[in-house]
Amino acid sequence: MIGACTLLGIETSCDETAAALVRVTGGRVEILSDVVRAQIEQHAPYGGVVPEIAARAHAELCDHVVSAALLKSGQELADLDAIAATSGPGLIGGVMVGMMTGKAMAMASNIPFIPINHLEGHALSPRLTQDCAFPYLLLLVSGGHCQFIAVKGLGDYQRLGTTIDDAAGEAFDKLAKTLGIGFPGGPAVELLARRGDPARFDLPRPMLNRPGLDMSFAGLKTAAVRAVAGEALDEQGQADLCASFQAAITECLAVKTARALDVFIAEQPSDPRLVVAGGVAANQEIRAALDRVAVKAGARLIAPPLRHCTDNAAMIALAGAERLVAGQVERDGLDFAARPRWPLDAAAARTNPVFGGGKRGAKA
Ligand code: KG4
Ligand code: ZN
Repeated sequence: MIGACTLLGIETSCDETAAALVRVTGGRVEILSDVVRAQIEQHAPYGGVVPEIAARAHAELCDHVVSAALLKSGQELADLDAIAATSGPGLIGGVMVGMMTGKAMAMASNIPFIPINHLEGHALSPRLTQDCAFPYLLLLVSGGHCQFIAVKGLGDYQRLGTTIDDAAGEAFDKLAKTLGIGFPGGPAVELLARRGDPARFDLPRPMLNRPGLDMSFAGLKTAAVRAVAGEALDEQGQADLCASFQAAITECLAVKTARALDVFIAEQPSDPRLVVAGGVAANQEIRAALDRVAVKAGARLIAPPLRHCTDNAAMIALAGAERLVAGQVERDGLDFAARPRWPLDAAAARTNPVFGGGKRGAKA
């Protein structure tokens, strides 16, 4: 059992190239450096992340970002106990860049390479800066994912529900692209929504009338996009549509979160905590609604600082460090093949066809 360790983490699964050094001593976590280079200007002309452009940008940026993280931390390669890199799920070209960089550095330094599931990084992210003991309920809501996960312990994750099609952030991005108001779409939609009337457009709340914790955002996304095509919207009309859309997503997330908390609390009644992570968690209206849901259920809402809600490498380094300390590191890290799809809860993925392989699975 290792008492203290220092890890380099690398994250390249979507459109952030990130590297960070984290030291774990006993239960104490220290972030020695935390470098994130977003690729907003590369993808903005297309209104969404273009996988080929992302892969190329990661290849260009990864070395520089890793060097910057080492330099800022004041550590040398020789001070590292292991290197962890996101090895899936995500856009495979980008994942390969970060994973191969990590493997090569680990091999050259003769230290373990730890392949990390990006979702595990998000699941553990509150533990970077807060005393957040297991178990807790996680709502991961980003541009690529929308899931409820019962985080029971390190490596022990139960997926309670998931979107069956698009992620919530993807829907925000699509509406913003259709309106031509900017990328990433979430912040632009939120800004416009402040001046809008949430009751003007009657948008669907998919899956709310169905039992269970699965969600769907594709129909809502399409309805919002159709509303743009249906009438020439002036600026107030755009604001009203953004407000109506945000209200619909907020209600979907709030109702499902209330149900997920009921399920979680039935099993774990003592000091229940709801952690919300992912870029969409930056949305103030969604955050406020989740806070109300948590309070009503007698739970606490924990939202990691925004820079750890969105993609970052500190959470990947922490996941690697926690695994190393717990003796959960596989020996064959260098043999690990990058996985475009890699469910955190393999059992749920097997029994729920939503997570079928290839094109059959949900996008998120
Ligand atoms: O976690 P993240 O940085 O990257 C991944 O997708 O993994 O999340 C990015 C997503 C984008 O879809 C973006 O539009 C959304 O989070 N987002 C927001 C807000 N800020 C970012 N969505 C709604 N409201 C926001 N304020
Ligand atoms: Zn992410």
